[in-house]
Amino acid sequence: MDAAATPAFTKPPAYTIPDNVFAETVVSVRHYTDRLFSFRITRPASFRFRSGEFVMIGLPNAEKPVFRAYSIASPAWDEEVEFFSIKVENGPLTQHLQKIKPGDTVLMRKKPTGTLVLDALLPGKRLYLLSTGTGVAPFASLIRDPETYEKFEEVILVQTCREVAELTYITEMVEALKADPLVGEMVEGRLRLYTTTTRESFERMGRVTDLMRSGTLFADLGLPPMKPETDRGMICGSMAMLNETKQVLESFGLHEGANNAPGEFVVERAFVG
Ligand code: A2P
Repeated sequence: MDAAATPAFTKPPAYTIPDNVFAETVVSVRHYTDRLFSFRITRPASFRFRSGEFVMIGLPNAEKPVFRAYSIASPAWDEEVEFFSIKVENGPLTQHLQKIKPGDTVLMRKKPTGTLVLDALLPGKRLYLLSTGTGVAPFASLIRDPETYEKFEEVILVQTCREVAELTYITEMVEALKADPLVGEMVEGRLRLYTTTTRESFERMGRVTDLMRSGTLFADLGLPPMKPETDRGMICGSMAMLNETKQVLESFGLHEGANNAPGEFVVERAFVG
């Protein structure tokens, strides 16, 4: 714009959107507990990703906004983009992000990436999606993608949380999937949800790691322990959880893979560090 045409009182915007960032509109927000919430934003027509990938998101509230890695919780076919987030009181991003409302702007870097993708796994019969807390987000994407059911006969989604209310996001989603026109029939009898808590009384208690080591998880599901011939795994949670779960899968004889070298399980390390 011609500088002379700009009124003297116009303040420059705090943040200029660079070429590698989308500025999208918040469509809906849902709070589950004082620690967890989910939200959906508009999806730019040119934004492509593989189910299970993550992207960097931020808010236009500073000249140099804070960006953090967030798994995309919606599947690749969805017309909006969904995220599932923790709320941290003094978290550089989440202290502000937890206050967003429909109509607000969220920034999203254009390039998605990540290791929790079907292409990083060798073919197998059964897929275990192992998570704690918001680590369930990439799996919320994968369980809604028909490709997951084209590649695996059975999908077992595990989430361990501190409290029962923290399981609501995934429990409601799995329930709703049964009536979904796209994947409803595919998930029938093939997607199994196994949720546990550690700090509040629930029908199943204990950490995912302990329940796998003791064999309880497999006994509860009526399945044999994981083995490299038939089973594949994806792991998403805190650094301690990733390391421990990786050890458990290795103790079953499974080997870690990556995008360029598919294996028997994959781990997402983007959120810790
Ligand atoms: P716990 O209550 O025993 O710490 P957070 O909310 O802190 O991210 O934790 C989410 C869940 O992950 C909690 O149930 C927590 O159990 C569990 N957890 C924490 N560390 C590990 C670990 N190393 N392996 C498996 N689960 C873990």
